[in-house]
Amino acid sequence: MKFSTLLPLGLAIGASANSELTPDKVEADIQTDKLQNVLWNLNKIARDNGGNRAFGFPGYNASIDFILERAVTRFGKHMDTYVQPFTALWESTLEIALTGPDGESVSPISTLLYNTGTPVPDGITAVLADTPIDDTRGSMCFADQWEGVDVEGKIALIKRGTCAIADKLKLAKLNGAVAAVLINNVPGNNIIMATLGVENYPDIVPVVVATYETGYSWKERIAAGETLEVNVLVDALVEERETYNIISETKEGDPNSVVMLGAHLDSVQAGPGVNDDGSGSAALLELMGSFKKYKGFKNKVRFAWWGAEESGLLGSLYYGSQLSEEEADKIKFYFNYDMIGSIAPSYAVYADNEAHQVGGSLLIDYLQANGADAYYGGFGSDSDYVAFLELGIPSSGIFTGAGAPEDPCYHLLCDNLENINWEAITLNTKAAGRAAAEFALNMDNVPPRVKASPNPRSKRGMAKRFDAWANVAKVVGKKHSCSRDGDLATV
Ligand SMILES: *[C@@H]1O[C@H](CO)[C@@H](O)[C@H](O)[C@H]1NC(C)=O
Repeated sequence: MKFSTLLPLGLAIGASANSELTPDKVEADIQTDKLQNVLWNLNKIARDNGGNRAFGFPGYNASIDFILERAVTRFGKHMDTYVQPFTALWESTLEIALTGPDGESVSPISTLLYNTGTPVPDGITAVLADTPIDDTRGSMCFADQWEGVDVEGKIALIKRGTCAIADKLKLAKLNGAVAAVLINNVPGNNIIMATLGVENYPDIVPVVVATYETGYSWKERIAAGETLEVNVLVDALVEERETYNIISETKEGDPNSVVMLGAHLDSVQAGPGVNDDGSGSAALLELMGSFKKYKGFKNKVRFAWWGAEESGLLGSLYYGSQLSEEEADKIKFYFNYDMIGSIAPSYAVYADNEAHQVGGSLLIDYLQANGADAYYGGFGSDSDYVAFLELGIPSSGIFTGAGAPEDPCYHLLCDNLENINWEAITLNTKAAGRAAAEFALNMDNVPPRVKASPNPRSKRGMAKRFDAWANVAKVVGKKHSCSRDGDLATV
């Protein structure tokens, strides 16, 4: 009895749930408490798995399972989902220590991703060689800055900032240094984690980052004529690991005409990555939950949760490098959502040209109409839009800022639930939903992808980058400077 009385209700819900897609409906579906629920889950996944959701760690696998539980288990009737595996070089610093000239254990210190190991357990003991500071060009970023600086057999003391850290460490190695102490470029105890870049792994010296205060006190003592001997210990585990992208698209819509939305699912090793990029991942998940309710799609909507972004955009570049020309042609527009809930948000909408603005204007108009001070900002080179730009696919997206004041917990342990501006993430997700819905219904104004670009580029360029990493991985094999087994969950 109960069953038969419930049945018509079920059908009624089914029927209304299958109503026509409109941007208004998607906008109304996006609710702050639902985004909160997703981020609560991602934060808990990190907490239950050693504190992060990073590439190669169990918290990433658990994040994958969380997305799949919705995309496949709950929404499988309306979404086609596949997991795209790829392998890349992975590094974890199991132990890092810096012993100062007076035998003291220096703290706080930090490692950097793709650090290279010293002998263990003894580390490297050597004289500290001071190097000049140049905050304009960047300290020790160029070969000429090393002329007349003797670091042979010594540990180079170098200030962070301006150029890629790997550039400094490569020059240190070329000039005969045996390790480096990097002086943080801002005062205080927060040392922001960074990646040295997997492709630089064979060419750098081991490095430890010390605070500005520690570094400058040592510089003063050296300047006063003291000889300081320090010890650097880096126990780095490096090996090839498999990781994954999740790609999920609406069953409805023209397969030859796709609007794509991407966010990266991995965090840095330093923390749970709730804003970076739990915020974008949650937005996509809630949008999927909305889109799957509707019909009347002219174009397909494809969601991507990228893997190993923090290691160098590896998942999205792999995806791009695997697309045939025909498959790339079908992706008409790409939206990137990486960090859209910064606590003191700025509202940058990516667009470098008119083609980008066809999508970007949908975002910026909505944000501005709703009181956000949104503006067009250029693309950089540090999120997953790179692969799509290299393919000439018109792209846009939202970015609310990294580092203080926008996000003072950027790449830190404190990138947790307290680090989200709920109004911003809600507004941005609604903007993203409206834009995707508009494009699901009509993309006639989107120009075709630009196939001839000045870039060495597109598929070949990306495949080359990816091959370079794969080759590094082959050369390195499994290189672990420590004899004990790494228990990754406790690192
Ligand atoms: C992640 O899952 C894959 C597939 O089940 C497994 O091979 C791998 O060891 C897991 N990685 C971690 C770090 O748990």
